[in-house]
Formats: sequence, C-alpha cells, structure tokens
Amino acid sequence: MVKASAPGKLMLFGEHAVIYDKPCIVASVDHRISVSLEKRNDNNIILTAPELSIKNQIISDNLEKSHFKKVSFILAAVNNFFKKCDLKSGLDIKTQSEFSDKIGLGSSSAVIVAAIKGLSELFKIKMNEKEIFDLSYQTVLDVQGLGSGFDVAAAVYGGILLFVTGGKIISPIEITDMPLVVGYTGIKADTPTLVKMIGEKLLKEPDRVNGIFNEIENIVNLAKVEIGNKDWRKVGHLMNLNQDLLRRLGISSKELENLIKAALDSGAYGAKLSGAGGGDCMIALADKENSNNVKRAIEKAGGKIIEAKIPAEGVRSE
Ligand code: PMV
Repeated sequence: MVKASAPGKLMLFGEHAVIYDKPCIVASVDHRISVSLEKRNDNNIILTAPELSIKNQIISDNLEKSHFKKVSFILAAVNNFFKKCDLKSGLDIKTQSEFSDKIGLGSSSAVIVAAIKGLSELFKIKMNEKEIFDLSYQTVLDVQGLGSGFDVAAAVYGGILLFVTGGKIISPIEITDMPLVVGYTGIKADTPTLVKMIGEKLLKEPDRVNGIFNEIENIVNLAKVEIGNKDWRKVGHLMNLNQDLLRRLGISSKELENLIKAALDSGAYGAKLSGAGGGDCMIALADKENSNNVKRAIEKAGGKIIEAKIPAEGVRSE
C-alpha cells in the first residue's frame, strides 16, 4: 500500500486575470488531503471517502452518474495515469481530508495531485513535479473544462508561487511564513459560473475589462517583490488595490465585503477575497500581535476563521 498527500491553496493575488494569461500569486496551506492506494486482483476501482460518506463503493463504472465532483476527479486521475503509462489494474483507494470541500481551499486539485503521486509510487513510475503537474492539470481540464491550474501548482510544488496559466511560469517566492488570517463566508463559490460571467463581460466591454486585467498584472508583479521583502504594509496595500479591481469586475459579495471591512477596521494591513469570488474565503494580512483582533472582528461580522499556516510543503509520499 502507498499513501501520498497534497496541500490546499489560497489565491493571494491575480484571480480571474490569470485565466487570460496574466500572472497570479498562489500560496499552499497546511491543510492536506491524503490518498492511500492498493492494487486489487480484479479490475474494480473501489473508493472509500469518509468526507463524502462513501464506503467501499465501486466507482469504475459510473463516472457519468457520479454526482460527487471529487469522485469524478479521482477516477479521471486514475484513467489518465493508466492511459499515459499504458497500465491497467483494480485499485482500493481511500481518501482522508483535513478540510471541507465547501470552503474553497482546493480539495479537487489536492486530491488529484495526491492520487497521481500515489499511483506513480504504487506502479514505480518516476514522475517529476512538472510531469505530475501536467497530468493533474489535464485531469482538471478533462472533468471541468476550464481553470488556470494555479491550484494544481500549489498542490504539487507547495510554497508561494508566481504562476501563469497552464504552468507556463511556476516560480517560487522564497519565504517561510506569511501572517495571513483566513475568514470563511459560509457560502460556496460557484467558480465555473463566475469564470464564464467574466468571459462574457470581457466580450461586452473588452477595453474596460482588459484595462482591469492589466492593472491586476501590475499589482501581482509588485506584490511578488514585496512578499519577498516581507513588507506586509505594502503587501496589504496591494491587496486592497487588487480587491478594488475585483469589485469593479463585479465578483465580490455582501458577505465578503462585510468580512473585509471588519478586518480592515480592526487594523489589518489589507484584505481581499480569495478565488473566484461570490463566497468561499477572504484573506487579511495582519501582524501576529494584531491577528487575534482581526480574527475576532471577522467572527463578529459573521465569518468563520480557518486556522491555516502559509506556506506548506507540496505533494509528498507519506
Ligand atoms: O474559486 P477558486 O478558489 O477555485 O479560484 C478560482 C480562481 C480563478 O482565477 C477565477 C480561476 C482559475 O482557475 O484560475
């Protein structure tokens, strides 16, 4: 039996614009998903996923019918791995998750990456990080049809990364900690719908939306330097500028705005939504001494604090 785990992620800067070839900055978080794999003597792929209340279920025959996105992702990862390596085997697969699928920390990408790493160990096929990234990203596109792959990169490489769509650039920003506070709105973001909505806006108002994307690109490039410098005051200011541009794209929400305001009013250097918008999590940057104040303010405004350390290690064998 083998076991591999991969971390979740938070988008720090550059969401949406990254779909249109602009850079973004993504951080891995120390909430992991692990996948255990064992060969079977028959051809069945059997899944146990306690977080989905799935126990010993044959998943090999019912990809179309699977209403759990995570099950589709796992099966697609297995199929893509077998196709690439010209292999076939039955498998017992068990997942274990340290975070809920609902909060937007990237459970789909983490489970795909952990599964592919585990498969490469089980069948003794050497794969480097870029090969794991490419196969995992292909799996995301096969199931979901869209996405930049920033979440896959965080799950594979860990750390804090400057990232360009499809992995054209994956460049680490070398720091070991970032004092981020994470507040969950309680609302599940609908990423595909929001990505499509921005696509439609871009068609209708290309000059305005491209102008916003260009401004986001500038912010990302400045943020890369200031994160490296650990100048949290400047990074916070850049977060506020990025959030303002996301507002102008129309993807913030009342709940996100309430938590962002609470964080800023209680002394955070900066705060913004993280990810597609419409829900999921917001992030705030606050000195260690002030972080309890910021957390309390976010909770008072209706948010739930997700305790998370940033950055975390990328995919690994357990
Ligand atoms: O909603 P999330 O956390 O999956 O983030 C989506 C970020 C986008 O830039 C909107 C989409 C993407 O794949 O980059």
